[in-house]
Amino acid sequence: MNINWNNINQEQFLNEYWQQKPIVLKAALNNFDDPIDANELAGLAMEEVVESRIVTTKNNEWSVKHGPFSDFDNLPEQGWSLLVQGVDRWNPEVFALRNAVKFLPNWRVDDVMVSYSAVNGGVGAHLDQYDVFIVQGSGKRRWQVGAVDKTKQQKEITQDLLQVDSIDPIIDEILSPGDILYIPPFSAHCGQTIEPSMSFSIGFRTPSQTELLTSFADFVFENELGKTRFNGKDATNETPTILSKSTVENLKTFMLDSLDNGNFDKFLHQFLTEPTRELDIVPSEQEWTEEQILQLCVSDNITFNKALALQTSYFENDGQLHFYCNGNYFSLLPEQIDFIEDLHLHESLDKFQLKSSVSQLENITLLTTLINTGYWYIDEV
Ligand code: SIN
Ligand code: CO
Repeated sequence: MNINWNNINQEQFLNEYWQQKPIVLKAALNNFDDPIDANELAGLAMEEVVESRIVTTKNNEWSVKHGPFSDFDNLPEQGWSLLVQGVDRWNPEVFALRNAVKFLPNWRVDDVMVSYSAVNGGVGAHLDQYDVFIVQGSGKRRWQVGAVDKTKQQKEITQDLLQVDSIDPIIDEILSPGDILYIPPFSAHCGQTIEPSMSFSIGFRTPSQTELLTSFADFVFENELGKTRFNGKDATNETPTILSKSTVENLKTFMLDSLDNGNFDKFLHQFLTEPTRELDIVPSEQEWTEEQILQLCVSDNITFNKALALQTSYFENDGQLHFYCNGNYFSLLPEQIDFIEDLHLHESLDKFQLKSSVSQLENITLLTTLINTGYWYIDEV
């Protein structure tokens, strides 16, 4: 699934639009069919583990209700939207939509939020702190989008609904199925529904400094790192009553040193593979043995599939291969690199792809663990 860029190309998009300017890409996805319908979406919104909300509007009065929902009986004819986060975790066809943005660093994709909007439904004029590609599914919506403006303020118009006062649109267009609207962070936007609509929003991750700092501090604490104490030797140059600039600098360097020794790499790989919302991971009912898994690895009708939207990452350092899966760390042998690349890159592996890996016992050991935990599952084809 590739984006048709029309009058621009991918390079121009990256140089001129990404993080800078919104753009509408008409007919960006050929013959686009909704990967999930409104009924299936409503079904997901009934699940405890799925984050969903219904936003209702009438005469500029707004209300927000959070899921899980037990029924949808009392909804008005018009003026509401059902929004469900992380649908890519539960539906393989929705997950496949992420392929449209494969040209961007994969770790930055957060989730695919799917909304169903009745006529006149929407969430009002607002801005997000992250990039989003909104793919228009069935129906039609009018989108007004302003330029990036980091000074624009939002206010809580009702509980859990932030809106801006107004938008000076630089885009005002009606989207049809297969069109894509790219919106950078801090670009105010408002979608109004003209015909009942499905929208698929591929949202990006923008970790804040607070999130990174507090998560790094947790990592340091959990791994019992950071035990070194400050030993400033510069006492003789100081006025005892003053905390000198050079001491401040020294302590800052001392703190920054804690990011060294590979600690920061380890932290970041772990942090970025931690799930940002619930995944469909079901630990295996039976405890598989390595012998059984080895047998399955050479079977014709078996594939090993990755849980949807599961994040993996790896790096080599000091003759060791560090593998991260769903926030868990595995220390591996450098010789396992080909197997790890296969696990990382493919959603599914069959006996042909596994052929060169099965001769190494360590790979079978790892695969057995990954299957017993439910990170990968066995599928009979
Ligand atoms: C929507 O689908 O109405 C909301 C998407 C957004 O504006 O972020
Ligand atoms: Co938005």
